Amino acid sequence: MGRPRCYAQLLLGLLLLRLSWCLVVADDGGGAEEGGGVFPVVVSTWPFREAVRVAWEVVSPSGAGGSAVDAVVAGCSACEMLRCDGTVGPGGSPDENGETTLDALIMNGTTMEIGAVAAMRYVKDGIKAAKLVMDHTEHTLLVGEKATSFAISMGLAGPADLSSPESIEKWTIWRQNQCQPNFWKNVIPVGSCGPYHPIGVPSEESKGSVKHVLEQTQGGICQGLLEPNNLLEPMNSLKSVDRHNHDTISMAVIDKAMDQYQDLLHMLMMKLVRVEQLVMVVESMRRGMEPRDAAMDAILRIARKYPEFVGAVFAINKKGVHAGACNGWTFQYSVRNSSMQDVEVITVAP
Ligand SMILES: *[C@@H]1O[C@H](CO)[C@@H](O)[C@H](O)[C@H]1NC(C)=O
Ligand SMILES: *[C@@H]1O[C@H](CO)[C@@H](O)[C@H](O)[C@H]1NC(C)=O
Repeated sequence: MGRPRCYAQLLLGLLLLRLSWCLVVADDGGGAEEGGGVFPVVVSTWPFREAVRVAWEVVSPSGAGGSAVDAVVAGCSACEMLRCDGTVGPGGSPDENGETTLDALIMNGTTMEIGAVAAMRYVKDGIKAAKLVMDHTEHTLLVGEKATSFAISMGLAGPADLSSPESIEKWTIWRQNQCQPNFWKNVIPVGSCGPYHPIGVPSEESKGSVKHVLEQTQGGICQGLLEPNNLLEPMNSLKSVDRHNHDTISMAVIDKAMDQYQDLLHMLMMKLVRVEQLVMVVESMRRGMEPRDAAMDAILRIARKYPEFVGAVFAINKKGVHAGACNGWTFQYSVRNSSMQDVEVITVAP
């Protein structure tokens, strides 16, 4: 089956484009019996209680009767509107030109369909745009102004200014600090604002080699991400200048027990964690490991090699048992299921 691999590569590719949202939905289409009563469950990275409450209202047995996908859209739209953590959604972290653009991804766990937008300008509804891409195109990802014109043509509001006083201020302070820190490398000037010029690039022997370099680059994008010194850091953006900015919400709504591949979708991917680690957690759970041990095992394996890495994984099994593990920071996630009175925020210490 080519599917899971495809999924992994997509996720990598999208992270490269610095996701503001990474949304995962699973729904087994009504096949599974195991663990029946424990679902639906809504989980989200970070203590974004309001987002989880809104999603729960949509998918809960006594709620609006929406699908898992609807719930994720509602929950994440809430976060975009509330600008959760000050960084998610319109008015959130600016790029180096001072502009805020949005990224979002959504997946239907049954069909494995994905829709995503990246670096979308002038439209405030990132997650709704992603769903429109999934529902109404054969594409996976639309970017920049092409995403904008698509979203507006499909009925979303725009064009609108995605800046806020806070995002402008953040950018102004960064400019005053000589544009430091930033994500440029092998360029001059060092330590001040651009324009930048490349240094130390291998000289090209002939015009013919340009194509060769291009081909290599295109083929190497995903592989490049797996190299030790390139831990999925978003590029060319102020977003991760403060590494402890959240910037991202990942939310999963699980409405039924799942099969083996859908386990994968229940791993919420954090910045700086690699897809292999997620696959490993799933494999471990399949072999009978508890979510806590599986998550811990994956994190420890990375930490042993790269003690400095900052990341977290979250795992949930077919019985609805969930756990997280992290390294380099204290990580929180939020959960709601039918026996809880309200959203529970769980803190995971490294
Ligand atoms: C909901 O989650 C709590 C704690 O995470 C757990 O104890 C409980 O069994 C779960 N409820 C269901 C119906 O699975
Ligand atoms: C996923 O897509 C299928 C086919 O279009 C649909 O029947 C199902 O309801 C979708 N799942 C969710 C959770 O929306």
